[in-house]
Amino acid sequence: MQPPLPWPAEAIWEAVVPRLPGFTVEVLPEIDSTNTELMRRLREGRADPVLLVAERQTAGRGRRGRGWVSSAGDSLTFSLGLTLAPAGWSGLSLAVGVAVAEALGPGIGLKWPNDLWIEGRKLAGILVETATVSAAVPASDSTLARYTVVGIGINIAPRPAMPDQDIAPAALCELWPQAEAPATLERIALPLVHALQSFARDGFAPFQKAFDARDLLRGRSVTLSDGTTGTAAGVDRTGALLVHTAAGLQLVSSSEVSVRPAP
Ligand code: BTN
Repeated sequence: MQPPLPWPAEAIWEAVVPRLPGFTVEVLPEIDSTNTELMRRLREGRADPVLLVAERQTAGRGRRGRGWVSSAGDSLTFSLGLTLAPAGWSGLSLAVGVAVAEALGPGIGLKWPNDLWIEGRKLAGILVETATVSAAVPASDSTLARYTVVGIGINIAPRPAMPDQDIAPAALCELWPQAEAPATLERIALPLVHALQSFARDGFAPFQKAFDARDLLRGRSVTLSDGTTGTAAGVDRTGALLVHTAAGLQLVSSSEVSVRPAP
């Protein structure tokens, strides 16, 4: 059994709480999934802003119903839950991807909508889930306000490919040999909160340029999940992927659409 990691919970709390009153930081040795846990708490009426870190997830969840596999010590898995009331939700997960990539530094690309990659391999994934909040929010905001759970999983140390993967995922220690989960979390937490608050105020547009700078698909041949092929041409102000196809420019806005570079 590994000793608990030295999580910088207090430093993160001190940095974030002035921006997010009522904010708390919680580290659990084990949970099924940090996203699932925050959604469970919401159903019990707990909608406070919280950063929930798990040293181990037994049922980590990924996008499109997939699992997210990670092991204690070799990865960073956490969810930030907070209430947001943006004018629109489109582009939120891309803005999160931009914030995390920028917090981690150069050498990290973004594969639409929000995967972080290093040299052709996935480094990190983001799962954003939202649910309505009721009584806690003033009536004028209540139609738009949603409790938002931003779940992030980052590979810190290398691990072998899973049976359903062709190649092993990337790991942060390829960029920083000394990378560790606690310091990585400290680097990300405040920029992530800033990004979410900026998104709630101004939407995705202010993130578009930074996304472009890290966009791994631009100019690449892509195949949409309906079989259409085309060339990726960046994202628009709402975060929709632009794809030049034989039928003209197509906007791909659903995060349920799988886009992969064509072989
Ligand atoms: C993906 O790329 O498919 C998204 C992966 C998201 C994984 C993180 S780990 C912390 C949080 N809890 C979960 O169950 N999932 C997210």
